[in-house]
Amino acid sequence: MYEYAIAWEWLSFAVRWLHVITAIAWIGSSFYFIALDLGLVKRPGLPVGAYGEEWQVHGGGFYHIQKYLVAPASMPEHLTWFKWESYATWLSGFAMLAVVYYGGADLFLIDRTVLNIEPWQAIALSVGSLAVGWILYDLLCKSPLGKNTWGLMALLYIVLIAVAWGYTQIFTGRAAFLHLGAFTATIMSANVFFIIIPNQKIVVADLIAGRTPDPKYGVIAKQRSLHNNYLTLPVIFFMLSNHYPLAFATEFNWLIAALVFLMGVTIRHWFNTTHARKGKPTWTWLVTVLIFIVIMWLSTVPKVLTGEEEQMSLSAREQTFVQNGHFEAVRDVVQGRCSMCHAADPVWEGIVRAPKNVKLETDGEIAAHAREIYLQAGRSHAMPPGNITEISPEERKLLVAWYETTVESK
Ligand code: HEC
Repeated sequence: MYEYAIAWEWLSFAVRWLHVITAIAWIGSSFYFIALDLGLVKRPGLPVGAYGEEWQVHGGGFYHIQKYLVAPASMPEHLTWFKWESYATWLSGFAMLAVVYYGGADLFLIDRTVLNIEPWQAIALSVGSLAVGWILYDLLCKSPLGKNTWGLMALLYIVLIAVAWGYTQIFTGRAAFLHLGAFTATIMSANVFFIIIPNQKIVVADLIAGRTPDPKYGVIAKQRSLHNNYLTLPVIFFMLSNHYPLAFATEFNWLIAALVFLMGVTIRHWFNTTHARKGKPTWTWLVTVLIFIVIMWLSTVPKVLTGEEEQMSLSAREQTFVQNGHFEAVRDVVQGRCSMCHAADPVWEGIVRAPKNVKLETDGEIAAHAREIYLQAGRSHAMPPGNITEISPEERKLLVAWYETTVESK
């Protein structure tokens, strides 16, 4: 059923659209509150229990915000909660993980030269790792180690590096980076869902009942918020990384990932300090640029494959594409119109690595990317870019016929 490939492609676009919107809402509101919190000004004469205030101007009006550290003397009638931004980001993100990586497990999730597993095993590892990650993180925070803010951060950093390395031993580089982002984002959303909001609810319930809330709930929530603050930028990097094979598909991808987490800290530190009006630590930008240069340098080491790994046998699904009667002609078209760019060693001027790591040289590579070839060059005219290699309408029809007759015959 070729309609399936088209519907799936649109579903993937729809979920991505939703995910980006919800992520903007979540990260936008969280950055707003971090800046607001750090910028609060204390002055004599604030109401009882108020910690600080800030005046803001936006959209034609003035806003006067006051922060009550534990709680105001009496509960306001209406309270606005900020939680669905986070939940919706996680839910739409998971839906996308399912559509793109579970739905296309053979192509995007599993690299049989890394680990030869079946799709269901890869999916189980994916889901399991996200759940175990949260449990482990939560235990560490609640352990005696959790009392030491910076010690805990250092330990969590080591855990993240180990996870980065671990994912590259299970999945494709592209999926490894995406999973590292999902692993981190799951911790962030779970912090909101399991810790920050429930603690806030306890405080609100205490207030309504006339009890004095225990300040420990606020302290715990604050620690989790601090983690979320420093993890935000790396998560966005990993979510976008699938467009950049130099990041995810080179030998030291896991080391690159480790450095990305550090950049998250150096960049956020500049903003946190600036918003707290404690000066402008320009050195953090210098460090960020240096880290970025190291990342670029690390990415020049290509992935080393042993001879044996390169001669992997084709999966059953891939074989059906090779066995299709159109295949010989399709191979001629792809090698004539695509391989100059989509090769391990591209010959096209200015292209140094296979774009998006899509290599279209061997029968196996062409078969593995059948659906993408169909969508990018058959059904749509996205490839070749600007039809620079002059693929003809007949050749496009051939790509379409090849894909559709193969999937129909199954
Ligand atoms: C002149 C070089 C060039 C040629 C020729 C070329 N491509 Fe590409 N291809 C690119 C570049 C550059 C990108 C990355 C585009 C981007 O970043 O959005 C790309 C991306 C792709 C992708 C990944 C798209 C995605 O978003 O994941 C596929 C699949 C693809 N090309 C297939 C083909 C096919 C099939 C042909 C031949 C019919 C072809 N390309 C010919 C340069 C080329």
